[in-house]
Amino acid sequence: MTSEALPMRSGHYVSVTTAVRSRKSVRSFLGSDVPREILEEVLTLAARSPSGGNLQPWRLRLLSGEAMAVFKSVMQARIQQAPEGDTPLEYEIYPQDLGEPYRTNRFDIGERMYASIGVGRDDKRGRRRQFARNYEFFGAPTAVLCFVDRRMGPPQWADLGMYLQTVMLLLRERGLHSCPQEAWALYHRTVRDFVSAPPEWLLFCGLAIGYEDPDAPINAVQSPRVRFEDFGAWVRPPG
Ligand SMILES: Cc1cc2nc3c(=O)[nH]c(=O)nc-3n(C[C@H](O)[C@H](O)[C@H](O)COP(=O)(O)O)c2cc1C
Repeated sequence: MTSEALPMRSGHYVSVTTAVRSRKSVRSFLGSDVPREILEEVLTLAARSPSGGNLQPWRLRLLSGEAMAVFKSVMQARIQQAPEGDTPLEYEIYPQDLGEPYRTNRFDIGERMYASIGVGRDDKRGRRRQFARNYEFFGAPTAVLCFVDRRMGPPQWADLGMYLQTVMLLLRERGLHSCPQEAWALYHRTVRDFVSAPPEWLLFCGLAIGYEDPDAPINAVQSPRVRFEDFGAWVRPPG
């Protein structure tokens, strides 16, 4: 189905601004099912996202129900067998030398997250346990695994990012939440084998999708943003 074939909805659930403001990375989901039609509608509509040359380079595999249950058990076994992941990585998740201000931004969100669940700075096991929740999609009943053809470069990866943000906002419009997860890149081969992805597909990330557990302290984490003045400025006329 293409997005043109989808019925136009009359009336909006939320404004774009509300969707943007309310989107956050949810790291504890309720088990309630996400209807397949809703997810397919969102993923189809999000394909209205722009892409350079209209390449539409996003490639997806969807998981829920029985397939999700089997995948989670495959992952549990794989983590025991290969705690360091499927080496070598297919892409560097962060630059080796992150530098400032990025290093501090990254450190800060990690500290907020662990503090919210009472995991201290020296509690390596607690941190590992929370990180491992990635591989359960934080309890989400549904997930999308997002690939990009390995021939593609930074412009097409950016296209995929635009697609994903559109998905996340459309999910908000439908009362759903999500969490993008690069953590899946550590198990690229396990994922690729399980979903039978063609060899030319490179796994960028997973997207956990479901209904937020409103009582989970980790979902109350506020992720800060730097001020506009620190990343944007008007260009002055020369001279
Ligand atoms: C591409 C991408 C990958 C991410 N990977 C992970 C991940 O593996 N695990 C995780 O808990 N959060 C992950 N995040 C969530 C970020 O930590 C989060 O977006 C950031 O801290 C800002 O918080 P917010 O999404 O709640 O606004 C990822 C986000 C993006 C965009």
